Amino acid sequence: MSRVTVEDAGGDTLFQIEHNGNLYPNFPNINSITNIHNLPIRDDDIFICAYPKSGTHWVWEVTRLLVTGQTVQDNVEKGAGMIEYMPQEDVTSLPSPRILNSHFKLKLLPQDILKKRCKILYVMRNPKDIVVSYYNFMRGLPHYKYTGKWENYMQYFILGKFSYGSWFDYVLEFEDMKRSHPDLPVLTLHYEDLKEDPLREIKRVNEFLETGRSAEFLLEAIEVASFGNMKQKKSNQVTYRKGVVGDWKNWFTVAQNEWFDQLYQEKMADSDIKVRFTLP
Ligand code: A3P
Repeated sequence: MSRVTVEDAGGDTLFQIEHNGNLYPNFPNINSITNIHNLPIRDDDIFICAYPKSGTHWVWEVTRLLVTGQTVQDNVEKGAGMIEYMPQEDVTSLPSPRILNSHFKLKLLPQDILKKRCKILYVMRNPKDIVVSYYNFMRGLPHYKYTGKWENYMQYFILGKFSYGSWFDYVLEFEDMKRSHPDLPVLTLHYEDLKEDPLREIKRVNEFLETGRSAEFLLEAIEVASFGNMKQKKSNQVTYRKGVVGDWKNWFTVAQNEWFDQLYQEKMADSDIKVRFTLP
């Protein structure tokens, strides 16, 4: 394990943590990364698993509202349950049911999650919007100390050269895990579906978590967890950038898009994953 700098295609650097051949953000608590597999898991833990920038904060907030049964605005964020970021003793002292989250690949998370059959909310988003979101996030957050240009970032990111590795590896591994553990309680949510019809999607979460909230409560929760409200109330402002589907069209050049589409076809050839890059 070490703190390292990683270069983009133009030689601009990002601060990262390297552990067992994988890169992670330059978080303060290195032990939380190196000891993640030792975190004690409880039967009633709820896990939100997502590649970064997939809408983790949004789904965490929706889950918090459903679990607590309160539609009260709160500036607490999903960082409070992010297991590679928080000191382990803080995660251990959270009351049950804990709403934990991580961007680690499932195989690197504590395997008790599988043994204890914890409920997993798996959040996906199209990778073109993810790379735009992560680029702006890395430039906006001081701990990366990153000032690189989009054209030097995009392809390197897609090829998995920065923290958490490649989106393709993450989603293909998750697909494999679902195939090899068909009995795992996993609810897959897509950012694009949440944007398209939040009520339909929050109903699915309410049923999956067996939280039994009323239709009226669900409508209120959608409002509390709306992009505008979260942007206003939450402390980590860099996270709440645009909150839309298809912003990638403002960033990708024609050549970048062709390169990406070709790679996507190759990488996803054997996958059943369906991702929407735009909404009708
Ligand atoms: P953009 O940068 O495209 O705006 P994560 O939570 O996984 O870090 O993902 C962050 C992305 O989700 C950001 O995307 C952010 O704006 C978006 N997001 C966060 N809260 C949201 C909400 N309530 N509704 C819609 N999008 C939201």
